[in-house]
Amino acid sequence: MTHEYTAPGELGEPVVEAVEVAEPGAVTIVVPTFNESANIRQLLRQITESVPSRLPCEVVFVDDSTDDTPEVIHEAAKDCPFPVTVLHRDEPVGGLGGAVVEGMKAATSEWIVVMDGDCQHPPSLVPELVATGELTNAGLVVASRYIKGGSRAGLAGSYRVAVSRGATWLTKALFPRRLHGISDPMSGFFAIRRSAVTAEVLQPLGYKILLELAVRSRPRGVSEVPFVFQDRFAGESKSSAQEGFRFLRHLAGLRTASPVARMIGFGLIGATGFVPNLLALWILTGAGMHYVPAEIVANQFGVAWNFLLIEHLLFRDRRRHRRLWDRVGRFALLANADLVLRIPLIALFVHRFGMGALSATALALVTTFVLRFVGTEALVYLPRRGRGSGTATARRAA
Ligand code: GDD
Ligand code: MN
Repeated sequence: MTHEYTAPGELGEPVVEAVEVAEPGAVTIVVPTFNESANIRQLLRQITESVPSRLPCEVVFVDDSTDDTPEVIHEAAKDCPFPVTVLHRDEPVGGLGGAVVEGMKAATSEWIVVMDGDCQHPPSLVPELVATGELTNAGLVVASRYIKGGSRAGLAGSYRVAVSRGATWLTKALFPRRLHGISDPMSGFFAIRRSAVTAEVLQPLGYKILLELAVRSRPRGVSEVPFVFQDRFAGESKSSAQEGFRFLRHLAGLRTASPVARMIGFGLIGATGFVPNLLALWILTGAGMHYVPAEIVANQFGVAWNFLLIEHLLFRDRRRHRRLWDRVGRFALLANADLVLRIPLIALFVHRFGMGALSATALALVTTFVLRFVGTEALVYLPRRGRGSGTATARRAA
């Protein structure tokens, strides 16, 4: 899947040996690229000017381009006083974040700095990020736009600013502990110790790779350095509305990784199901239907709504082993069984255990909810496997 070649040198020539660049205090700069041919020369020039004299470095591009970016890198690298590697992927699995993780796996230095390929992240800050990490003994150093001295000057337009601010707020609210000390979890510019990257547990999805690392790899010790987000040197942002939805899915996946959080998510989604349920009931009875059949039909609207949300937000990666109609059928069966089961359960609690009607109803609601959640996990979606991942792509294929 991964083709790789280094420059300078011929295409397909054996690559740089790890020992040549693995130095304590050295840095591997990982740059994800998607059609950035007009920015490569400028970026490598800026890195050449500000990094190697202060810190030994290598640069790893992970490229998903459909243009001639790899060739341009290959050419430009001939003038660079440090090793440059290009990993071109035929399948852009995980998008930007997937590319960064590939680059991290290929990194050989103690420190890894991730930065964009469009010159919005000033390379002159690379040595400072690493120095700050060494000085504060941090595992992660974030270049932040939101601390004193930083700014998001290059973020194009008030729309992008508002989206970025909203996303930052939402993310910080969802992960108050894991993101403690990170003012800019959306930043694409950061340094991380190679030893702090636990590539096996990462499931990158789209742009927010720092968030993925902070939440799943949990590096010990976080520092921040302010930076000014520059204007793009050339070309346009590759971010899109689709990328925005991917981000929301990413957030949901991160937030519901634990069973307890998943159960809470399941409950919240279930609660929103009242809206389509009541709406359908109102319409059906308004159209003259008797309320009993109307209740039954309306309930199916709530079930359908819940199914859609649960499929996409909670079990997205666990759907493969059953066909859609199989899942729909099982889900609907469980959801309706919930209703049918509730009455005899209440009767049992009242008559057998002498409970009051109200507490019996509350207990029955909780019981059927938990049963439904456990049933959905076990009978509709693929059980979670252990954490181990498949084999990594061969890195140094000569
Ligand atoms: N390999 C690969 N695959 N690279 C990609 C992909 C992809 O699917 N999509 C984008 N890239 C590369 C771009 O070529 C660029 O080098 C870098 O990732 C950032 O992409 P941009 O399209 O320039 O992103 P942006 O400027 O809108 O967003 C940046 O700033 C945001 C902060 O506002 C990114 O750094 C975001 O992560 C960050 O949140
Ligand atoms: Mn950019």
